[in-house]
Amino acid sequence: MPTTLKRLVPPPVRRVLRNFQGVILDRIDAARGLDLPPHRLRGFVGDGSFTATGEEHLRYFIEYGKLRPDHKVLDVGCGIGRMALPLTRYLSTKGEYHGFDPTAAGVNWCTEHISSRFPNFHFKVADLRNEFYNPLGKYQPENFRFPYQDNSFDFIFLTSVFTHLFPDAMRNYFSEIGRVLRQDGRSFITYLLINPESVALMNAGKRKLNFRHKLNGCWTAYTDNPEAGLAFDEATIRSHYQAGPIRIEELKYGNWCGRQGGYGGYQDLIIGLKE
Ligand SMILES: C[S@@+](CC[C@H](N)C(=O)[O-])C[C@H]1O[C@@H](n2cnc3c(N)ncnc32)[C@H](O)[C@@H]1O
Repeated sequence: MPTTLKRLVPPPVRRVLRNFQGVILDRIDAARGLDLPPHRLRGFVGDGSFTATGEEHLRYFIEYGKLRPDHKVLDVGCGIGRMALPLTRYLSTKGEYHGFDPTAAGVNWCTEHISSRFPNFHFKVADLRNEFYNPLGKYQPENFRFPYQDNSFDFIFLTSVFTHLFPDAMRNYFSEIGRVLRQDGRSFITYLLINPESVALMNAGKRKLNFRHKLNGCWTAYTDNPEAGLAFDEATIRSHYQAGPIRIEELKYGNWCGRQGGYGGYQDLIIGLKE
């Protein structure tokens, strides 16, 4: 809806119009034979086209993360299957997919619509507290043990998840990823990295997003609910990899801050290799 029109329409009316639009788009998906999550449930994983973002990441998983069809994969913060859906076409029956997330509505949709057709795809709810996604969650992410065995995955990815976790939770997740990833396995993690270039671009107003509020160990653009979006100093993130056992294989900058000439994706991306 154009901004001028938006100002004239009160929020409850806008909500009704949005829901109505979602219902129409769901019918179009169904008529095209597509089994996709309803639009009313998709919003929490981000703006942009749900299917195009999933397809784009599948290309990055294969090209940069060297993902193979027979790999055993872990999707930390799997949301509502935006990445799992394209993977159903890529992973073979020798491969396996596991995903967990605090958002029960997303996980339940995935179990019902994906695991029922692809028995090697497994989803779990982990009732983790996150002020933005799951404020009443029972478990604290800073001491959560991933429910998987040591050295059990070939490929672990987090897309737009370390952009919502505070530093202590991230530190624990680095340790858990290091524990459950196999030797020679790869991690694929997206970030919003603060460095001189991204600061200059944000200050020049190249994008609306500006992570200018410093918290303890990270930056936010949203003072009322910081976990809605968190950015980290690049040096802090590098230090996690330097501590091992996963070293940085490749760092690729995204265009989130208005950067030109990155790899094409929105968030910054680090491919790690467990040695
Ligand atoms: C922007 S969404 C991205 C979802 C999914 N990775 C994708 O790319 O479609 C962020 C996700 O992180 C999940 N999340 C929040 N706190 C988490 C935690 N402590 N552990 C795992 N996932 C978490 C949210 O529930 C949400 O699904």
